[in-house]
Amino acid sequence: MRVGIVGSGRLGSPLGRLLAVAGHDVFFSDADPTRAAAAAGAAEGQARDGEPIEAARFGEVVVMAVGWEAFPVVVAELGRTLAGRIVVDPSNPITERDGAAVVVAVPDGLTSPQYQQHVLGEGVRLVRTFNTKYPNELLELGIAGQRGGPRADMPYWGDDDEAKKAVVPLIEDAGFTAIDGGGLSEAL
Ligand SMILES: NC(=O)c1ccc[n+]([C@@H]2O[C@H](COP(=O)([O-])OP(=O)(O)OC[C@H]3O[C@@H](n4cnc5c(N)ncnc54)[C@H](OP(=O)(O)O)[C@@H]3O)[C@@H](O)[C@H]2O)c1
Repeated sequence: MRVGIVGSGRLGSPLGRLLAVAGHDVFFSDADPTRAAAAAGAAEGQARDGEPIEAARFGEVVVMAVGWEAFPVVVAELGRTLAGRIVVDPSNPITERDGAAVVVAVPDGLTSPQYQQHVLGEGVRLVRTFNTKYPNELLELGIAGQRGGPRADMPYWGDDDEAKKAVVPLIEDAGFTAIDGGGLSEAL
């Protein structure tokens, strides 16, 4: 599958690497092009890199691995490119202030992916997953699963059943057992 990664930081880089090693076509991008190039290099040379808009156009699935506060900014930058696409959202409502992690209140009593869906608009097919592991854990557990070792569970949530079905093979190929957590209203 063609996977565009927008945000090649602590989480986007190892996640894209797991998918590239599994044979998916991965396109890394970042606000900082050197970070995207480094992520492509770390993916054992099996990935490409470029601008966020190119990654969004490239991906049948687009992973939005940017911080919580950057998410609406990136959505505005990508404009209508995301319309109709499957977006994987690994985000947690956490930001950093003065070097410390701070949990952000999600508006209007929504779960955080319901809020992200609101930001994306109704035409974008959101699946929340890959948000429950720290990046080093994600990489170590994913590699172990890919090499035939015991697999860790990876929950996923969404309101679009076809989009969820499309994302399950990515979760499995990344080395995890995909666990259907239900709709966005039930998501972590
Ligand atoms: N780290 C964790 O433990 C962890 C665990 C689970 C889930 N997550 C989730 O994963 C997501 C990414 O977190 P992270 O820890 O990987 O953050 P990160 O290391 O800061 O990476 C985010 C990347 O996105 C880039 N970015 C910012 N604005 C952008 C834009 N407009 N266009 C393209 N790229 C942009 C950032 O560049 P700049 O630095 O130049 O702004 C940065 O390289 C978050 O939603 C987070 O909740 C993180």
